[in-house]
Amino acid sequence: MSILIIHGSRFGQSTKIARAIQTTLESAGLETEFAELGKATDPTGHEGVVLVTSVRYGYFDKNAYRMIARHREFLDSVPTLLVTVSLTARKPEKRDPAVHTYTRKFLAKSGWTPTHTEVVAGALEYPRYNLFDRKAIQLIMRISKGPLDPTLSIEYTDWDQVEAAASGFAKQLA
Ligand SMILES: Cc1cc2nc3c(=O)[nH]c(=O)nc-3n(C[C@H](O)[C@H](O)[C@H](O)COP(=O)(O)O)c2cc1C
Repeated sequence: MSILIIHGSRFGQSTKIARAIQTTLESAGLETEFAELGKATDPTGHEGVVLVTSVRYGYFDKNAYRMIARHREFLDSVPTLLVTVSLTARKPEKRDPAVHTYTRKFLAKSGWTPTHTEVVAGALEYPRYNLFDRKAIQLIMRISKGPLDPTLSIEYTDWDQVEAAASGFAKQLA
């Protein structure tokens, strides 16, 4: 029996967040298994499930919806933690799942009610984006009054928030 940590990542930030959660859960004496979203992973039989997934152009990975639809009954039977990763969450007032539009829509569309939902800020890494993505992110940043300098890389993730969410989840599982 272990906790399954499923993560879907394009630039590695969700993986980094999932690893931090894994470290906290293991420090609490829990066994974990790390799995990539989209790979054939059967959560059935695990004691709990963590899903870490990021926003890209307003949408979450289709594989997240597929995994939830396929395993909904099981997911409803164990403690679950959903962590959504986005740049809009760099503003603390947006980190309420009831306020964070992408997360609200994701929960409504998937029909899933995780035991706990945490809205976490991701990373802005202009130098790693191709020209199209860089221009698009600059546009999003212009609208939301964020940084526009294309040489910038900023990690907005609040690691204390991630640790607190993982610790809270560990307590729930105990
Ligand atoms: C191409 C692209 C599109 C993005 N679109 C959005 C968006 O629509 N809204 C948002 O809040 N963040 C957006 N982000 C920010 C990502 O969610 C953030 O960079 C996150 O850290 C990515 O996590 P990952 O590396 O695990 O995929 C976007 C990032 C990229 C690179």
